[in-house]
Amino acid sequence: MQENVLISMKNISKRYRMGDNYVTALKDANLDIRSGEFVAFLGPSGSGKSTLMNIIGCIDTPDSGEYYLAGKNVAELDDDELAQIRNKEVGFIFQQFNLLPKYLAVQNVELPLLLRGIPRSEARKAAEEVLSKVGLQERINHKPSELSGGQQQRVAIARALVGNPGIILADEPTGNLDSKSGEEIMNLINELNDQGHTIILITHDVEVARLAKRVLRMKDGALIIEE
Ligand SMILES: Nc1ncnc2c1ncn2[C@@H]1O[C@H](COP(=O)(O)OP(=O)(O)OP(=O)(O)O)[C@@H](O)[C@H]1O
Ligand SMILES: [Mg+2]
Repeated sequence: MQENVLISMKNISKRYRMGDNYVTALKDANLDIRSGEFVAFLGPSGSGKSTLMNIIGCIDTPDSGEYYLAGKNVAELDDDELAQIRNKEVGFIFQQFNLLPKYLAVQNVELPLLLRGIPRSEARKAAEEVLSKVGLQERINHKPSELSGGQQQRVAIARALVGNPGIILADEPTGNLDSKSGEEIMNLINELNDQGHTIILITHDVEVARLAKRVLRMKDGALIIEE
């Protein structure tokens, strides 16, 4: 395998059953992403972007094909190893932020660390640090409903970052934001890439995709690679 290839897919396919019919979500996807890359997947609704991202993040499995993450064949990993990857190697950012509404910003961010068994005081300190990093030091004791959309997405980014994952998977992170907040979030994602995180961004917005260093187009479950 080529050196520092982090994500490697060979003929990955996935279909979903809908009653008596099958929907092909991915067909024969081939893909290599190197460590430290900033890649955008661009494609219309239903083209298979989220399906691909869920497979990359090991929260879904393909029907056929091979997926290697950091040189390991994901199909051969046991449940503990998969949980380890989901919790430590990958940070997810979603369009709907997916914050817990009753928890303060700092509690949302420290939760992944608490679930990992990290002591409360240490988790709190790490959460505060990462919230400062995304510019929210003044808002750590606010609930999501007391924050703007852009601020909520910053909390979600802080939560994705708190365990210092190598890979950030962002599925339409600006989809629910006005253009100014969206720009700020994209600047932040760009900075994370400069700091060495591998970024995989999903969007159907050409302007947003332009910020990535490489754009891969998707159509009807297939990847169309362009330079
Ligand atoms: N759990 C599921 N059950 C059945 N069909 C599904 C499921 N998830 C996705 N699909 C179908 O698979 C195809 C790809 O879906 P996917 O969510 O990957 O698209 P997408 O590119 O992320 O779209 P969007 O831009 O709307 O988020 C679609 O036709 C979709 O309806
Ligand atoms: Mg999607």
